Amino acid sequence: MWRPALLTIASLASVSVAFPGSNSFRAFGPQGINLWKLKAAREQRTQDILTAQYADSQSSGQHPLSAPNPGAEFPEHYFTQPLDHFSNGSHTFGQRYWINTRHYQPSEDAPVIVLDGGETSGENRIPFLDTGIVEILAKATGGVGVVLEHRYYGRSVPVENFTTDSLRWLNNEQSAADSAHFMANVKFPGIDEDLTAPNHPWIYYGGSYAGARAAHMKILYPDLVYGAIASSGVTHADIENWRYMDIIRRAADPECSANLVHSVEFIDTVLSVPHLRIALKQLFGLKDLEYDEDFVSLLSSPMGYWQAKVWDPAVGSTGFEEFCAALEKPFGGADFVEGEVIGYNIQSQMIVLPGGLNVPKVVYNYAQYIKENFVSQCPEGTSVEECFGTYDDSAYQDTSLSATWRLWQFQICTQWGYFFNAPPPEIPSIVSRRLTVDYDAKTCKQAFPPGKHFIVPPMPNVTAVNILGDYYIAADRLAIIDGEVDPWRPDTPHADEAPLRADTILRPFKVIPGGVHHYDEYGLRDLWEEPPEIENIHLEMIEFVEEWLLDWQSPKWKD
Ligand SMILES: *[C@@H]1O[C@H](CO)[C@@H](O)[C@H](O)[C@H]1NC(C)=O
Ligand SMILES: *[C@@H]1O[C@H](CO)[C@@H](O)[C@H](O)[C@H]1NC(C)=O
Ligand SMILES: *[C@@H]1O[C@H](CO)[C@@H](O)[C@H](O)[C@H]1NC(C)=O
Repeated sequence: MWRPALLTIASLASVSVAFPGSNSFRAFGPQGINLWKLKAAREQRTQDILTAQYADSQSSGQHPLSAPNPGAEFPEHYFTQPLDHFSNGSHTFGQRYWINTRHYQPSEDAPVIVLDGGETSGENRIPFLDTGIVEILAKATGGVGVVLEHRYYGRSVPVENFTTDSLRWLNNEQSAADSAHFMANVKFPGIDEDLTAPNHPWIYYGGSYAGARAAHMKILYPDLVYGAIASSGVTHADIENWRYMDIIRRAADPECSANLVHSVEFIDTVLSVPHLRIALKQLFGLKDLEYDEDFVSLLSSPMGYWQAKVWDPAVGSTGFEEFCAALEKPFGGADFVEGEVIGYNIQSQMIVLPGGLNVPKVVYNYAQYIKENFVSQCPEGTSVEECFGTYDDSAYQDTSLSATWRLWQFQICTQWGYFFNAPPPEIPSIVSRRLTVDYDAKTCKQAFPPGKHFIVPPMPNVTAVNILGDYYIAADRLAIIDGEVDPWRPDTPHADEAPLRADTILRPFKVIPGGVHHYDEYGLRDLWEEPPEIENIHLEMIEFVEEWLLDWQSPKWKD
């Protein structure tokens, strides 16, 4: 399958994958030009799996995570939104949503649990409506569960193409206004009662980018949002995102981290030796990849597997562990390529290659791994430059609605940042020092030439995000939940840089031990089957939401 596909991240995610069986990178363009970007990788993988599983469950009815046929149980609905909330234009679009009414008990104070779909098709969030956090909270409270798709994603597309000008209504302010308008006006099909806010208590949930949105909604629309839960909510936007890799370095198996740090030092050194540089790239099957930045960027792709971990083996990736294991392979193992190697110096563990290049065993293994898992995916007849190069501007010019990678890319270029770069020199790195903000940010210029009505700023205006609270964002009935080893934790109120807070019912502040990215969003139909730390966070969430609801007063009864 060689086609652009839309799948995205939360956080932060965006573009997706065109290769069967692979992940950790994005691909786009009719010629199969690829961008290997971690950003895409991250949540992407998880979403691919979830989507696949959801499709499976629909066809087989067997999957334990899903109802026999959730597609039939959760048909899509549309709510009419103005394209521009801040002008008097007449252009509208349908914002897609799904509801779970399994547990709804009509009453004066029945809650609505709404999950913000974030930067992906809302369809990818349906498992959370079925067995995940929405189902869990709706069941506990007798409320209605909702998944609300984000404007421009999935089928909630208000424009005819994704040019710079057409994307100008894709921003935090407009999408927050969508949610507010929805909460205040929606009439749920099949439900006679008026469940709008503020007449009923709405609990706004989001994970990752949507987690930041949940926190922002509580700040921006306190009269509509009764309670909010920001899970892995990236309320701190930043131009640089080197801390992402640093979390992985510190949390991974120490042997694996040491192997990576060692490999990166070696590779960075060899790349600056002109007569060895090509020999090194050749070892990775990437002799013809012109720019060293593209080369080392591709090498960083497997780090995307870390974020793809989920506690539930049915949806989580084991790619990171497989990558680590591949680096440790004994010399002469299955990937050993006869003829490529002259010898092996057991004492120094250096592999002697033709052309005067000797590489540590771990670098040799790294090369075999990249060749086998990534380079091999580049279709026959397509050069590695076409597959993995990022310097050809023409590869970024498709502005049709199928170029969905442009959406999150636009959001990071305008407001969120998070460009991946190597850490400062004094901190060890598992990715090349050649990965810089400028390298990652150049896509913004390539993909979004100035329009007539909108110009993407030279660097994203992260102030637009951080002004809403940043690390310090706080409100009564705003819960902050993060994962201990989430690579996005440095951008949440649980960052090492952020102040410690007390964890209270009114302002929950919780870390899931060993948790990666929004682990609480996933759930099993039977909570008791969940691992203890997940069951525990779910019970705590049920507890604080129930406590919040006890304090609810209908505006009708207030003086
Ligand atoms: C929209 O129309 C109202 C009433 O005519 C006017 O008060 C308001 O300023 C207009 N808003 C914008 C953004 O044009
Ligand atoms: C994009 O859509 C707008 C509005 O419909 C239209 O005016 C413009 O010509 C389109 N541009 C391209 C490149 O398709
Ligand atoms: C960035 O966003 C903030 C908050 O929305 C705004 O006040 C500021 O003017 C923006 N800066 C630039 C350079 O546009």
